[in-house]
Amino acid sequence: MFKLKLAAIAVATLGMHAAGAAEVEVLHWWTSGGEAKSAAELKKMVEARGNKWKDFAVAGGGGENAMTVLKSRVVSGKAPTAAQVKGPSIQEWGAEGVLANLDGTAKANNWDGLLPGVVANVMKYKGSYVAVPVNVHRVNWMWVNPEVFKKAGAEVPKTWADFPAAAEKLQKAGFVPVAHGGQPWQDFTVFESIVLGVGGAKFYEDSMVKLDPKALSSPTMEKVFDTFRSVRKYIDKDAANRDWNLATAMIINGKAGMQFMGDWAKGEFTAAGKVPGKDYLCLPAPGTEKSFTFNIDSFIVFKQQAADAPKAQSDFAAAVMSPEFQEVFNLNKGSIPVRSGVSMAKFDDCAKTSAKDFTDTAKGGGLVPSIAHQMAVPASTSGAMQDVVTSFFNSNQASKDAVAKLAAAAKTK
Ligand code: BGC
Repeated sequence: MFKLKLAAIAVATLGMHAAGAAEVEVLHWWTSGGEAKSAAELKKMVEARGNKWKDFAVAGGGGENAMTVLKSRVVSGKAPTAAQVKGPSIQEWGAEGVLANLDGTAKANNWDGLLPGVVANVMKYKGSYVAVPVNVHRVNWMWVNPEVFKKAGAEVPKTWADFPAAAEKLQKAGFVPVAHGGQPWQDFTVFESIVLGVGGAKFYEDSMVKLDPKALSSPTMEKVFDTFRSVRKYIDKDAANRDWNLATAMIINGKAGMQFMGDWAKGEFTAAGKVPGKDYLCLPAPGTEKSFTFNIDSFIVFKQQAADAPKAQSDFAAAVMSPEFQEVFNLNKGSIPVRSGVSMAKFDDCAKTSAKDFTDTAKGGGLVPSIAHQMAVPASTSGAMQDVVTSFFNSNQASKDAVAKLAAAAKTK
């Protein structure tokens, strides 16, 4: 349950903030090599507008730790200036009455004209902008070390049916077939790509977005769990609790063949000076070529006592939406710009493919929100579903039982 009844507490303690300095305290979870480089660009631009950046980084991929810390901060009346919060959670924070309003900045900079309607709606609470979007990440990627596949004489799998044969060859040749980190959000990230690859976009939409009990309890979902189990055979014994960027490093240094992860992984390849198409390949996760699982990073802004806070928040939000920021940040982060009017000239082929597929799937179907990255359903629901997925991955449960548990977890409010 989200409802913390934060509003009263936060408002009562607003006076605790030091007045005066236009300090911008920003909570985020961008701590890996590529992420930190991207966050540094944001700091630079906020400071260039005459504000003081106060970093509030909370390590932990996927942001679960950051969300826990944020809640306790707000409850104790010390909300940061801005915090990385995404998807339906923006609405939940809005309902707590603690968010500041960005309508002035949005209007002055024509956000309604620059953002896709679906994105703008997520950033608004009761018709007012309370959040600013940063980027569009695609989740249904497979990161491949082509040299490893070549050495093993294996074909890169195009479907989940092709996967075991390829993985077997990699394993026989002494490689780790799948680079994975055993953390619940990483398990769920792989799982959602299997839902999409095995069942298709409509099945994904029905089961992961609409939470339709029929789809959740279907034989297709059982097949998804069977497939998911087959992935476990091909991860290494040290996977437990490994951070996602260390799993990406296994692809970079030729220890492993493939990783199923969103394109923040590309930020790691970029930071390591690796070239797509040569040192590594970005390919759709098996069977997901015609679909796009989106994950949009954004920042919400909190009401503050300091008189100069609204200007600092406006500077912050305007910086995030500026074409200069959208270009340099996303070049480092592995994502694509979220607003129109940003040149893609400096972006690599992975980003160009992503941008094209985002537009095409938005028009023609296949664009779906990532459940593992809090885009599809409230975090309380996706969290309960994630627990089922992780406990299945780490046990010998029958797929049939897991299907029933997943359908039950999807009812969590
Ligand atoms: C965020 C990304 C981040 C990734 C790994 C995702 O949920 O959207 O910005 O890089 O988690 O921490």
